[in-house]
Amino acid sequence: MTANGLDQAHNSGNFRVCIVGASGKLGQYLVQHALARGFEVVGVCRERSVYKLDRFKERIRVVPGATDDREVIEKAVTGCNAVLTVLVPWGVQQYATGTAQAVLDYARPGARLVFSCGWHITRDGQDVYSRQLKAFVKVFGRLAQLARFADLDDQVEACRRVFASDARWTVVRGSDLGEGESQGLPVWSRHVGDPVLKSNLTRRVDFALFMVAALENDDLVQEAPAIVVCQTPSALAHTATPAGAA
Ligand SMILES: NC(=O)c1ccc[n+]([C@@H]2O[C@H](COP(=O)([O-])OP(=O)(O)OC[C@H]3O[C@@H](n4cnc5c(N)ncnc54)[C@H](OP(=O)(O)O)[C@@H]3O)[C@@H](O)[C@H]2O)c1
Repeated sequence: MTANGLDQAHNSGNFRVCIVGASGKLGQYLVQHALARGFEVVGVCRERSVYKLDRFKERIRVVPGATDDREVIEKAVTGCNAVLTVLVPWGVQQYATGTAQAVLDYARPGARLVFSCGWHITRDGQDVYSRQLKAFVKVFGRLAQLARFADLDDQVEACRRVFASDARWTVVRGSDLGEGESQGLPVWSRHVGDPVLKSNLTRRVDFALFMVAALENDDLVQEAPAIVVCQTPSALAHTATPAGAA
C-alpha cells in the first residue's frame, strides 16, 4: 500500500493497526492511543496475557500467541494498514528477531511499521553514549545472557533487519522510562548524545503517543528517532517545537 493508500484508509475511517505485544505496559498505552484516534485495533499477545486486555475487550480483536510465531503474525497483520511492534529481547531464542522478521515478511507492502527499542540500538554508529549507559548495557547484557533471561544482541539483530529493509519503517528508541500522566509528544533526535536528549527520561504513555503519532508522520519513515519527554530543561532549551528533528 502506498502512502497515498494509507491516507485514503485513514480518511475513510478504515485504518486498521496491529499492535504486536499489546498486553505489556507500552502495548496497553499503544492500544489506548490507537483507539483514541479512531483506528481499528488488532492486538497480539501471549495466550496467558490476554486477560490484561480485558478493559478493551469490546473494542479490539485479540490474536493470542507468541509474537515470534509466524502464523500468529500472518493472521494478525493481514488487512492492516500499519503495525506497531514492541520489540523485547526476552529469553535466548531470538524472540525479538523472530518477531521483527515475521512483521517484515507478512505486513502488506507499503504498510507503516513502527518498532520500539531502547537507546542502546544504533543505526549508523554515530550515537554517543554515556559511560553509565555503556556500563549498564555491558553488565545487564552479560548477566541476562548468563541467566538466559534476555539477550540484548537479539534486539540489535532485530533492528539491523528492520534497518536493512526497504519497508516504511520507523524504529523509536526510548530513553529511561517512567509512569505517570502524559507530558505531551516527546522530542527526538537522530543521535543519542544530542543535548536535547540529556534528561534521558520519557513516560511510557508518551513513548506510545510518539509511536502512534509516527504512523501519520512521513518525515519519520526510515528514521530511528531517539526520544525524550518534551518538558525537561534539556528539551526546552534545545528545541523550538516538540518533535523537532535534530
Ligand atoms: N524498560 C525500560 O526501561 C526501557 C527503556 C528504553 C526502552 N525500552 C523499550 O520499551 C519497550 C517496552 O519495554 P518495557 O520494559 O516497558 O516492557 P513492557 O511494555 O512491559 O512490555 C514487555 C513485553 O514483553 C512481553 N514479555 C515479558 N516477558 C516475556 C517472555 N518471557 N517472553 C516473551 N515475551 C515476554 C510482555 O508480554 P506479556 O504481557 O505477555 O507478559 C510484553 O509484551 C521495549 O521495546 C524496550 O526495549 C524499555
